[in-house]
Amino acid sequence: MKLMVTGGAGFIGSNFIRYWLLKHPNDSIVNFDVLTYAGNLENLIDVMHDSRYTFVKGDVCDRDMVFEIVKDVDVVVHFAAETHVDRSIMDPNVFIKTNVIGTQHILDAVKEYQKRFHHISTDEVFGALKFGDAPFTEHTPYDPRSPYSASKAASDHMVRAYYHTFGIQMTISNCSNNYGPYMFPEKFIPLCISNLMEDKKVPVYGDGLYVRDWIHVDDHSRGVEFIVNNGTIGETYCLGGNCEMANIDVVKLLLQYMHKDESYIEYVKDRPGHDRRYAIDFTKAKNELGWEPQIKFEEGLKKMVQWYLDNQEWVERSRSGTYQEYYEKQYVIR
Ligand code: NAD
Ligand code: DAU
Repeated sequence: MKLMVTGGAGFIGSNFIRYWLLKHPNDSIVNFDVLTYAGNLENLIDVMHDSRYTFVKGDVCDRDMVFEIVKDVDVVVHFAAETHVDRSIMDPNVFIKTNVIGTQHILDAVKEYQKRFHHISTDEVFGALKFGDAPFTEHTPYDPRSPYSASKAASDHMVRAYYHTFGIQMTISNCSNNYGPYMFPEKFIPLCISNLMEDKKVPVYGDGLYVRDWIHVDDHSRGVEFIVNNGTIGETYCLGGNCEMANIDVVKLLLQYMHKDESYIEYVKDRPGHDRRYAIDFTKAKNELGWEPQIKFEEGLKKMVQWYLDNQEWVERSRSGTYQEYYEKQYVIR
């Protein structure tokens, strides 16, 4: 089988490509990525000489190029997106372009060539839970509250519209907060780790009691694998980590793992419209696909900290924005 993975140079996409190549020796992958600030080919340096892997530098908003690549593959797994909520608050424009218009081009191409399509979405489309509310399920009404989550919600609606109207072979997954190696250090956990590595304080928004449901990126990749292989066409699956944690408790674990005290906590101005709590009920994925998360948060987080400590140069290049330069000096981008 030949897969097109969009956004494969980012955090989850690169982990997914590595995971898939390992688990599926007869498959090949085309990584289609425009390399925004979040796209780092260094994330896949270990597979770049694998004959089953090809990188194509391309924009999901470039319709002709999207059609050209989709034509030649069996399955499209669509990760490419603008993903950082804070950036979407500063400038929503590119979120609409990439996440909505870009997804529409992919949809037109999978419709034209009748390809299997899996859309990667987020639990943020469901809005914010209050303490005591039941976790999100596939039946929770959409209520996105940031420009990022609204753009992801719009793309989900387009995917479903193309299924109902044109019969495309699609599935969707709505996943909770991922963590793991190669996570860009603007997101909360890697930002905290990399600040502590530089002996800086960690910025905690508001009261620090916002809750996220953390899932290891390899559990997410396995969930997507199960859906691509066995999911029912037209269906949505919620994937979560069974691990609700307040941000301040995540910070306390990191301080413990990195041998720092609580003086490194700095409460800062809150994010506008900050969603209080996310949590996922993944019963459907468990019952229909036999999927559930396997990696315990404390174990996965400890390994993640160790990965960052072992890859200090990757962290420095990510923080200084010099990773493409570094990569291009050593390799030619095909
Ligand atoms: P990321 O920001 O680390 O990576 C995004 C990748 O997409 C980058 O490689 C970037 O270069 C690429 N990209 C952006 N615009 C593009 C364009 N116009 N054309 C081609 N490529 C483009 O993101 P991530 O955290 O790995 O998230 C991947 C997907 O998973 C996104 O769709 C996101 O909404 C979803 N998701 C993320 C999380 C999370 O916790 N990070 C949770 C649930 C769902
Ligand atoms: O829930 C899935 C979503 O998780 C994905 O769809 C998004 O792409 C991904 O970025 C993530 O969104 P969040 O906004 O939850 O992630 P972030 O890492 O930005 O923030 C996690 C929590 O930490 C959130 O409550 C805000 C808080 N935070 C974040 C930053 C960057 C802080 O307290 N301080 C910070 O500096």
